This record gives sequence, C-alpha cells and structure tokens, in this order.
Amino acid sequence: MTQGGTGAAAEVLISVAQLELRVRELAAEIVDDHRDGNRIPVLVSVLKGSTFFLADLVRALDIDLEVDFMSISSYAATAQQSGVVRIIKDLEGDIAGRDVIVVEDIVDTGLTLTYLRKALTERAPRSLKALGLLDKRARRIVPVPIEYVGFEIPDVFVVGYGMDFMGRYRNIPEILAVRDLPRLANAPDLLVDTVFGAPFPARAGE
Ligand code: PRP
Repeated sequence: MTQGGTGAAAEVLISVAQLELRVRELAAEIVDDHRDGNRIPVLVSVLKGSTFFLADLVRALDIDLEVDFMSISSYAATAQQSGVVRIIKDLEGDIAGRDVIVVEDIVDTGLTLTYLRKALTERAPRSLKALGLLDKRARRIVPVPIEYVGFEIPDVFVVGYGMDFMGRYRNIPEILAVRDLPRLANAPDLLVDTVFGAPFPARAGE
C-alpha cells in the first residue's frame, strides 16, 4: 500500500495485524519449547530496535521468563565487515547454565548475530537460540542459525516497529519498506506528515 504524500518513497511491508498475528505464533512456538517450569529462559534483547518487538513478544508468552539487555556498537566501517563489535552495555545477569534466546528485530548481514552467538556461547549457557523478527537473507555475509524467524523479507530498507532511519521512525506501528532511500536521505522528514499526520491512509480502514 503506497503511503499518500510520500509518493512512492515508502509502503507498508508488514501491517500491524500481520505483526500481531506473527508475534502470537512465535510466542506459541517458544512456549512449546520452554514449558519446563524449572528452567526460566532469559530473553536477551539487543538495543535499541528489538525492544519494541520484545515488549509485544514477552506479553504474549505465558511462561515465567526474564529479560536482559545488551547494547553493542560496530567499530569503523572496515571492521564492520569483519563483524568486530564493541559491547557498550553488557548483560546484567550471568547466563551460565541458562536457556538464552537472543531477540533481534532484523538479521541483515548476520555479522551482529554471529558475534553475539559466539560471545554468549563463551559464557556457557545451557542453550542458546536466536529469534529474528525479520530475516533479510539476501544480504547475508555470514550464514548464521536463526531458530525462530518472523518474516523473511526482500532486500529493502525498513523502518517502523523499532527500526529506524537516523534514529527516527522507530515508533511507526507497522513496518514500512522505504523504496527510495536516496530520496529519504535527501529529505529525512519525508515520511513524517504521512505516518504521523491524520488520517493515516494505511490505518483508515481499521
Ligand atoms: C540492527 C539490528 C541488528 C543489526 C543486524 O541494529 O537490530 O542488531 O542491525 O544487522 P547485521 O545482521 O547486518 O549485523 P542497528 O545497528 O540498526 O541498531 P539499532 O537496533 O539500535 O537501530
């Protein structure tokens, strides 16, 4: 669906209804795999984008669980290609012996998740799984296991539901595909009137 006022700059890729449904399905899968009440899984959310998804997911999970957060930053562009990252904020809890689920909003090149899987495995969890709401497989540089995938998406730039453009647009409730990224780069306000103005065309029928 094209967003009025933005021309063809962006369109809804995944609607709120689709997100709600998939979150419930993913939650059901995770509950099935973590029914043992003696083991409380730790969901590790990687700041910042995944926190929006995490908030919905944990409320759909009717099992006892804990959440913890990490913040990481890539080094310079050259190092980025090697997947070398710096931990800005580490987990608060010890994950040794725990069942850990890494929650990501998007897996793109796979470098971040590869790093996280390695770094967290070294801490001797009982199990380690990854959940990626979006899997942009076409961009993968390193193959990396993702035990739970929300949606496989094509190679398009996305914003909304936690994902940003220059720190903005994370609070758009649906996921938009930015069809003309250079245009948005030239005019970062491009989506504002459409997604935050009223009425929002994509929501008019809800
Ligand atoms: C996104 C996402 C992953 C990473 C995936 O984070 O949350 O952590 O990129 O990309 P990769 O597979 O190419 O490594 P981002 O760096 O955009 O940070 P943010 O969540 O704070 O926006």
